[in-house]
Amino acid sequence: MQPVIIERLGHLGDGIAPGPVYAPGTLPGEVLDGDIDNGYMPNPRIVTPSPDRVAPPCVHGKSCGGCQLQHASEAFTANWKTEIVRTALAAQGLETEFRPIVTSPPQTRRRASFSARRTKKGALAGFHKKRSDVIVPVPNCLLVHPDLAGALPLVEALAVLGGSRKGELSVLVTTTETGLDVSVTGGKPLDSELRASLADIARDYDLSRIAWGDEETLQRRPPVLHFGPAAVTPPPGAFLQATPEGEAALRDAVLEITKGAKRSADLFAGCGTFALPMAQHSEVLAIEGARAMTDALDHGWRMSRGLKAVTTQTRDLFRDPLIAEDMAKLDAVAIDPPRAGAEAQIAELAQAKPAKIAHVSCNPVTFARDAARLVRAGYDLDWLQVVDQFRWSTHIELVASFTLR
Ligand SMILES: C[S@@+](CC[C@H](N)C(=O)[O-])C[C@H]1O[C@@H](n2cnc3c(N)ncnc32)[C@H](O)[C@@H]1O
Repeated sequence: MQPVIIERLGHLGDGIAPGPVYAPGTLPGEVLDGDIDNGYMPNPRIVTPSPDRVAPPCVHGKSCGGCQLQHASEAFTANWKTEIVRTALAAQGLETEFRPIVTSPPQTRRRASFSARRTKKGALAGFHKKRSDVIVPVPNCLLVHPDLAGALPLVEALAVLGGSRKGELSVLVTTTETGLDVSVTGGKPLDSELRASLADIARDYDLSRIAWGDEETLQRRPPVLHFGPAAVTPPPGAFLQATPEGEAALRDAVLEITKGAKRSADLFAGCGTFALPMAQHSEVLAIEGARAMTDALDHGWRMSRGLKAVTTQTRDLFRDPLIAEDMAKLDAVAIDPPRAGAEAQIAELAQAKPAKIAHVSCNPVTFARDAARLVRAGYDLDWLQVVDQFRWSTHIELVASFTLR
């Protein structure tokens, strides 16, 4: 039998050998042995390990599906993520200076999405096993903030109370400055007994807030996060940057790129992660598609002191992008679209031509497409920084600076 030698990693983190043969938990250059089923080697034996191989630091590394790259050294992963971005740019004929990658430390993820199920004896809570709907308890998870790793008893208690035997409960837990903010989906319909029990749980675990599907939100005190000087209460489940360290790196880069602007915009603004810090120096037009998030941003601005004017708009920027005419007076724009990128909005930016654009992205391919459009319109891609908030996973996040030539 021919030896199986891994050539590269796929976008889900599996090693890929000619064939193709996919093998989880392997690295380029490794020689493998094992049964292959339909192009997949589920349990590879590593005959020749890569020098980049390390022992998974987490005790749950082998079973839990939360992380894909615990077996790779930090240097390997940093280089792998950087090269994915470089290759996506090259495919569009672009190159630029790469600032050193910033990787968030272990135990800093501010949010965990737990799965839980009622069992005969009580409940099982944790993350899904790799490629399976089996739930693995993860009491020592090294990825998430210790308050989240310690939240498993809370998640189990919620499953005992409001989970069904058949269905799975999804419990999103977020650390905030005023305690854990919990959002549950997939639970039983709320009745008065369940409502009373949830209030007990919220008190026993000192939660700031608990949302039960769309049915009810019980708030003991507002969950708060600071964006610059503004205290914001995000709506349940709202998008937040994954780690405070990653958020700081992205925000500092956005502030550096947009500094000196008198009037700026933050497009796909969320709850104001960038717009509110930008408002320390500039008037900001903040546009976001979800009204509850725009409202949270606006409320945070109104309650803060010393910020310049922030105007908010709830708007679908895919179907109804901000047109060039409406951006005529802007000196700088920050843009942070979802994975699909911002094709329609970028076309308008390419016409409006603000002096500076700070582009944050979680998808190198759509970013490179949109970057090429800006470069064709007369922008320099000054530099780019990969910000790895998703340690041990295959996700990639980046921020890039564009200046009008
Ligand atoms: C990657 S997040 C960035 C949010 C914010 N910049 C932050 O850092 O917290 C993308 C945001 O775009 C919003 N969004 C998604 N599709 C949208 C659309 N078609 N129009 C406007 N906003 C949209 C999402 O609600 C989300 O808040």
